Formats: sequence, C-alpha cells, structure tokens
Amino acid sequence: MTSFLNRMLPYVWVAVGIASVVTLAQTFSGFLRRIGLVGWLARHGMLLSGVLAGLAALAWLLVLLGALRRADRLPRFLTERRWLMDILDRLTNRAELERRMSQEVESIFVDAEALASKLKAQVVGQDRICDDLAAQIRRRLALKQRGKPVGVFLFAGPAGAGKTWLGKVLAEALGRKLLHFDMTQFSSGAFAATSLFGAGKGYVGSQEYGKLTQGLRDVPDAVVMLDEIEKAHGDVHKNFLTAWNDGFITEKSDGKQISTTRAIFVLTSNAAVDILVDLSRQYANDPDGLRRGAVEALRAVGFAPEVLNRIDRIFVFEPLSGLDIARVAALEIERMIAGYGLTVAQGGIDPQLLFDLMTRQKKMGAAASSRDLTRAIEEAIADSLIAAKEKGARSVILVQSEGGVHAKIAAPSEPHA
Ligand SMILES: Nc1ncnc2c1ncn2[C@@H]1O[C@H](COP(=O)(O)OP(=O)(O)O)[C@@H](O)[C@H]1O
Ligand SMILES: [Mg+2]
Repeated sequence: MTSFLNRMLPYVWVAVGIASVVTLAQTFSGFLRRIGLVGWLARHGMLLSGVLAGLAALAWLLVLLGALRRADRLPRFLTERRWLMDILDRLTNRAELERRMSQEVESIFVDAEALASKLKAQVVGQDRICDDLAAQIRRRLALKQRGKPVGVFLFAGPAGAGKTWLGKVLAEALGRKLLHFDMTQFSSGAFAATSLFGAGKGYVGSQEYGKLTQGLRDVPDAVVMLDEIEKAHGDVHKNFLTAWNDGFITEKSDGKQISTTRAIFVLTSNAAVDILVDLSRQYANDPDGLRRGAVEALRAVGFAPEVLNRIDRIFVFEPLSGLDIARVAALEIERMIAGYGLTVAQGGIDPQLLFDLMTRQKKMGAAASSRDLTRAIEEAIADSLIAAKEKGARSVILVQSEGGVHAKIAAPSEPHA
C-alpha cells in the first residue's frame, strides 16, 4: 500500500501543481482587470498568453519528467545506454579497429617536379636538396602500407642556410599543417618532454594532452618539425623511436595510441656542420656514402645510433654565398614590403642596397646568419616604407643614397626603368 502511494506521489504533485496554476491565473486576471491592463491584453493578449502557456507547459513537463525519473518510472527507451553508445564500442574493440585503419594509408600521388619547383621558388641555393626531397616525398606518399611515418628527414647544416625555412615551405607546398617544436626547450631530460607527450596520471598536467599527441590526433597528416633537435636531451630523442619505428606515439595521460603513419617528420640540426659540409661535397653523387659519413659524424656529437638508424635521409645544406645571399635578401625585402600592404615595382630594389647587405654579411663572416640579414633589412627600409604608406603609396621603388634608403612611390603597374 505504501509503495502504491509512493508511486502515485508524482501524479499527486502534478495535480496539485495544475490546480495551483489555475487558482493563480484567476487571481492574476482579477488583479489585471483592476489595474486596467485588460484592454491592453485584449489587443496583445493572444500572443502573450500563448508564450506564457508555452513556458508553463515546458516547466511542468520538466518537473514531471524529473519526478518520474526520481521515482524510476521513466520509459525504458529514454534510459537505455544502448541508444547513446557507439555500436563499435559495444560489440568490438574500436580503438584497435581504428589503429588498423590508420596503418592502411591512402596512396597519395604528388607531382615531384611541381613540388620541387614550388620549393625552389622560395628556398634559394638548395636546388639539389629540393629536388631530392620532392622525389623522396613522392615515392613515400605513394606507398599504401607502411606502418611508419611518410618520412623522417634530417636537415643538417649551418645556421641561416634555410633549414627551418624549407620545413615551413614544404608544409605549405603540400597544403599540410606545420607542427613546429623548438627542441632547445627540452635540454634538461626526458621529463621535459611531458609537454610533448602528456604527463602520466597523478603528475602535473595529466589532465591535458601533450602538444605533439594532441597535434597529431587532430591533424594526422601534419608536417612535424623538430627544430634544432641536437639541443634536446638524448632521452627526449628516444621518446620519438616508436613514432618512427612503429607508427604511433602514446599519450601518457590516458595511454591512447596516436598514429604517426601519415605524418612527415622534419628534424633540423646545426651540429657537426663543418664535417657534414665537407662530406656532402665529397659524396655529392653518393647518397649512401654521405649517409655513412654523416651518421658517424652525428654519433660523435651525441646522437644515439638507434635514433640515427631511423632517419630516412640526411640532407646537408650548404652555407649561402655570393648571389644567393642577394637572392635571400631580395625575397626578404619583398616579403617585408608585402607585410606593410605594399608591393615592390618590377626592378624596384636598388642593386646598391643588395650589394651593401651582401658586404655586411661577408664582413660578419661565418657567424652571419639570415636572422642578422633580416634585422639589417628591417633597419634599412622599415621607416621609409611606413612614410611611403602614409603618403598613400601602393607600390614602391627602393633607392639607396648617402642618407639611407628611400621608398619612392610607383604606380602599381609601372615597371621601373
Ligand atoms: N636558402 C634560403 N632561401 C630563402 N630564404 C632563406 C634561405 N635561408 C634563409 N632564408 C631566410 O632566412 C630566415 C632564417 O633562415 P632559417 O631557415 O631559420 O635558417 P636555419 O638554417 O638556421 O634554420 C628564413 O626565415 C628565410 O626568410
Ligand atoms: Mg633553424
């Protein structure tokens, strides 16, 4: 008998609720008539009462559902988990199925020549590397079953030769996202790498995914750049071995495996530059010989053999010299001008400006990097560009004189004599 009364309780509440709404409505309407709102309501009442009735009905439906749920009397179809759960979670191991699918990658066909020319248009003086890289990428993207990243490439060579730049240009040319990691941050040991791979349960940060695991989870075909990898601790290097050997990385916070089979890894290094540049000249036409020599040289500066083993190809960048420095400077100037919303007229960079920049670089000797060049360009031209922009310029001609660089206003399509 008590259980029957208990079960009826929600319905009693509903009945009491409806009765009180009716009573309230009557009282309320008497009140409205007295303050003269009835006339107004007669005109707008339909709309208002419709809205009020709707809201009241919704509120009561929610109260009713809540009461039924508390009394455990909701119909089964509303409560059964089966309706909310993925059929694959219920009937099989979905994670394993997804892992197998991720190993089976689509063959992708890229035009190596078109890719190489895109790279060469932006990266000066490294034509051989651009051709070779494009050919490697074409071959590897066409493989259907690999269980490993598309490629693990090491760009080695002097600072300011365009290693980081080529990584960026490659990602852009392939239309892929770049995940750029400055590896100098991870010099203190494996623990430093928690920001890449996440932290184990109970550690600080274990609520969040690591930057690399999250990045590849969200964009599996990214270009992953490990910039200046030689500066990271050797233990951090080893964290990448499963990524390169087995085709996955493990997120520490929840133990999930994230596929690396569609990613391209680009490592850059400034280590052992002199030996590597010598070797690359010596073995210009013998990639295997170059590889052997380079592996030995890199082992000597602290790279672990198992890490070097997994690098598919080592590209050695030549230091930039001669006209190539002028080319980089010209590209840099063009980019900077574009940064101010301007264009440079054809033939619009005074050769004297480029010559001065080259002389300056030469004077700085081996220590000169492209970053110094960028800074020098900014110092030389930024103010005059701003002045030209203020005067309403769209296109400019840069003229070098005793007093510095002057940006003359050119008509947008006017070629400079
Ligand atoms: N070979 C190059 N071609 C075009 N621009 C270059 C080249 N090398 C350097 N630069 C310019 O100089 C900047 C710094 O070069 P970067 O790629 O960072 O050198 P690093 O070899 O030390 O990684 C680049 O962002 C780019 O603008
Ligand atoms: Mg760099």
